[in-house]
Parts: sequence; structure tokens; C-alpha cells
Amino acid sequence: MRLFIPLVFSLAYFDYNSTHPISQAILEKMPEWAGHWQNPSSKHRPGQKVRGLLEQSREEIAQCLGVSHKEIFFTSGGTESNHLALQGLAGCLPTGALILSSPTEHPCLLGALQILERRGFRVCYLPVDSNGVVKPDVLRAHITGASLVSLMLANNETGAITDINSISAMCRENGVLLHTDAVQALGKMEVDLSLVDAASMSAHKIGGLKGVGLLYVRSGLKPDPVFLGGEQEKGIRPGTENSLGILSFAHAFKHGIQPNPLVRTLRDQFESGLQSMGRDYFRINGGIHRVGNTSNVTFFGYDGQSLVLQLDMDGHFVSMGAACSSGSVKPSPVLLAAGLSEEEAKSTLRISFGCYNTPSEVDSLLRSLKKILKTGS
Ligand SMILES: Cc1ncc(COP(=O)(O)O)c(C=O)c1O
Repeated sequence: MRLFIPLVFSLAYFDYNSTHPISQAILEKMPEWAGHWQNPSSKHRPGQKVRGLLEQSREEIAQCLGVSHKEIFFTSGGTESNHLALQGLAGCLPTGALILSSPTEHPCLLGALQILERRGFRVCYLPVDSNGVVKPDVLRAHITGASLVSLMLANNETGAITDINSISAMCRENGVLLHTDAVQALGKMEVDLSLVDAASMSAHKIGGLKGVGLLYVRSGLKPDPVFLGGEQEKGIRPGTENSLGILSFAHAFKHGIQPNPLVRTLRDQFESGLQSMGRDYFRINGGIHRVGNTSNVTFFGYDGQSLVLQLDMDGHFVSMGAACSSGSVKPSPVLLAAGLSEEEAKSTLRISFGCYNTPSEVDSLLRSLKKILKTGS
């Protein structure tokens, strides 16, 4: 028996912070790139051809970031870059050294900090303000005696931006190393690597393939490798490089790291649409210094999971907090640290916009939300 399912609505994706669709230009290039499957460490001609393409990608990415190609190390993604940064830089410090970070970092960075604590490093999680961000004054009060600071540039759940200029100046004054997780900032705001000693990035957040990332490390610093046993990436990240992923990363860099002003317009269209529904319904979290694509909204008295499901039924794909913790019913630690109650955190959605969204999709999302909020959840 054939089932007939009428398509009464269009499908609209509002989860760009979780992952960005692979860009069309990259999809078109894939068959050509897949032809370069040989190992870039092989000394024969096809292997060396891949090596050449890989090094060209490194050069192109370095140029986009305004740094030297010698400062770029390819990894398997943002998670590994954060571990390599933290574990690698801590490896150059005496055991017991003090590391400053925050409770609103991505879970993978918090994981790296846990490993370091187990190894005898002291980790201080700096208090955050009501937007979930560490204020420069808070860092000033704790920086004496610290060796390494790691603070993200833009938060994955709220989009809140850290004042990296002031943080950087303070770290420099005090001779403290500064790492930033720039995974969610790339493509959404300017990323100035001259302010930091190390920075993590991931290809799938800007339209490249999953499973590839990079760590920028200022020249003069040499992080300890997390894995041992190979000479790739100057021995700092051994393992055969993901050449297909790296080629996609360079392509995405060349076409996708300038923040798109239209995306902010869509986000603003969404937020003004919410305002017109009445202020008692919701609160937008993260403050005014947010990347232009993210709305993190608490719908008072509603269950976030149920809202996600109902919106999904209507063809609108949003998320509840970080993708990595979705599926668990625990409230977002980012929102709790910013002062939300457990109940409020569980009533919160993350709606993240991107270059393929349209004004009519945003209107449709607003209509759907209005209907769902009216009927209760
Ligand atoms: C801020 C931040 N850091 C790190 C990561 C991990 O990146 P990846 O998925 O490439 O491992 C993510 C992914 O969501 C992220 O948002």
C-alpha cells in the first residue's frame, strides 16, 4: 500500500550553531577532491600531489586569518583542538600551575580542564555575569599567579561575546597565555588572532565537512602532543590528515568567514516578531553583545523539549541548548551559570539562523510558535 503524505509546510532549519549545511560549492567539488585519496605522507607523485593541495589549503586558511601557515595545525575538529590547546599548552607548564576558565565553556573544553585537574593542575572557574560571560574585572581579580587563561570568543548556546580585547591586554600585561575557543565565532564575527596565543576552530560550523578542525598556535609556542607516534603536523598532531576535510575547510574559509549581515536581519526579524507576542511570554538571554545569528529564548512556563518537538512537527528545526547535551533532560549549565533557574533553563530554546534562511521561513517559525504557545505545552 502506498502512503500519501501531503506536504503542507516547508521544512526550515534554524540550528546553524549545531552544524552548518555543507555548502553547495563544496558538494560540487567533492568528487574531484575524493580523487585525491592518496596518503599525503607518501613520497610517490600522487601522494605528493595531495601533500601540495593540503599545504595550499593551510596557506589559504592562514591568509584568511592573517597568520603564518606555520601556526596552523589541522585536527579532527573543535573538540580535539580544544584538548590539544589545553592539554598541550599545560604540558609546557609546571604541574600545579593555575589555569583560569569559565563554567560556560563548551563541554569539550570543560572535559579538557577536568583531565588537567586530575593531573594536578589548579583550575579556577571564574564567575560569569547574567549574560554568561566573564567580565574583564573578574579576570583582573583572579589573574595573579595564573599561567593560562581559556575563554571562548562566542558562546554556542547564547551567542554572547567575550570582551577579548580587554582580556587579551590583561593576559599580556601579566605574562599569561591566552587560548580562545573560536568555534562559534568564526563566520559570525571578526576573529583577530593577534589577540591570542592559541585558538580553536571547526570546519562544519562554516559549511565545511565534519571531522576536521584546526588549532592556531602563535609561533614560538609548541604544545605537547596529546597523541604520540607520528610526524604529521610537525608531530604536534600525529595521524594521517583528513585531506578531503581540509580541502573543504579551506574552501569554506575562502567563501564563508565574513559575517553575513542578512543573517542578523533575519535574527532581528525573529526577535521583533517575538516582542509583538507580548513580553510576559519570554526573555531573550545573552545580552546585547551577541553574534548576529543566535537567539536564546526562555519561554516562561513552557517545556523546552516539548516546544522543540512541536516545532519539529510543524517543520521548524530548532534546538534546546547545546547539541551535545540534547537528549539529556539536564538543564543547560551555561544558563544556570548565568543565573537562570532550573525551570527557566528547561524552558529555553536556541534558535540559530544562517545564510540559507529566508524572511518567509522566519515568519513561518513565528506563526508556528504563536500557535503552539497559545495552545500551551
Ligand atoms: C564552542 C564550541 N566549541 C567546540 C565545539 C566542538 O566542535 P566539533 O563539533 O568540531 O568537535 C563546538 C561544537 O558545537 C562548539 O560549539
